[in-house]
Amino acid sequence: GKGEYDHYMLKEIETQPTALSNTIEGRIDGGDVAFEALPPGSFDSIESVQFVACGTSYHAAMYGGQLVREAGVRADVLRASEYESTAGPVDETTLVVAVTQSGETADTLDAVRHAAARDARTLAVTNVVGSTAARETDDAVYIRAGPEVGVAATKTYSSQAVTLALLSQRIAGDVPDATPVADRAAMLEALEALPAHVETVLERGRAETLARELLDSDSYFFIGHGLGHSVALEGALKFKEITYEHAEGFAAGELKHGPLALVTEDTPVFAVATGSDDDEKTKTNAIEAQSRGAPIVAVGPDDQPLADVADAHLPVPDTHPVWAGLLANVQLQLLSYHAATQLERPIDKPRNLAKSVTVE
Ligand code: M6R
Repeated sequence: GKGEYDHYMLKEIETQPTALSNTIEGRIDGGDVAFEALPPGSFDSIESVQFVACGTSYHAAMYGGQLVREAGVRADVLRASEYESTAGPVDETTLVVAVTQSGETADTLDAVRHAAARDARTLAVTNVVGSTAARETDDAVYIRAGPEVGVAATKTYSSQAVTLALLSQRIAGDVPDATPVADRAAMLEALEALPAHVETVLERGRAETLARELLDSDSYFFIGHGLGHSVALEGALKFKEITYEHAEGFAAGELKHGPLALVTEDTPVFAVATGSDDDEKTKTNAIEAQSRGAPIVAVGPDDQPLADVADAHLPVPDTHPVWAGLLANVQLQLLSYHAATQLERPIDKPRNLAKSVTVE
């Protein structure tokens, strides 16, 4: 049950440190990445990767896809519902990774079946042991987040993104000519500290006050660049899903190609920072919105350029840039939760939505 918590969503947000510890457990092995089902050499014959997913799982897949590409391996992240028209040719050198919390999403199952029928190698990254995705794919990797009851995916997003980041390094170790991230030891060390860093975000969250201050806005924008882009999309999806307010996520650089026309003093912009070079682009575009009157909220570490210009800041502890976006996302989960609570929304069962979407 939800015990002392008012909602499953809050419980699931607040138990992310434990979920993440379980996700990581036994998978970091002397500076390398180990997966029970995928011993070294598993991806020797793979030349490219396609991630297929829907909704929040798609945003986690974007995270993983970027890390696979940074390792020098061709990787596409495809919306499962558009798979047939966007996938292009696949064969036995293509690894198709179905990212699905439930393992039962019809669009995702359909995409992976389509790929399997064309000889692709298939892998499920899922939370549910024995789910259809786990049974029908060649291999399965479990995110080990524990059951998630709230319709809004929270802890499972964090556990998916971490699992996919680890998978990116496992793939990089096998695929010919791929190169694991240069500072992998530092990255993995920072991952071991991630559960404690999430705990810090939960303890120091300022999202509740900020949610109250901004509640009368017309629309809520979320922007970011690189890994921060996928976090911005996820922040906006969660916000609209449980508050019923209009929210939209953008690549920071896209703002000036249209959406800026909507920006006024009543459209707060949440700018996701990761503590990497990506933040400069986000800052430049945030300033464009700010000069049209929009309040800017920096979401990320203290030591990054957005913190200087922002009107408000949702801080996260310093960490490796690969993980900072996941900490920023916890702040955005809290923001959505508190905004929805103040608006007296039902939280765990938003209107019109189902936890597991088994129709196409
Ligand atoms: O079970 P899945 O991960 O395949 O579900 C995919 C989406 O339906 C799901 O992530 C949805 O977007 C969430 N409710 C968003 O919070």
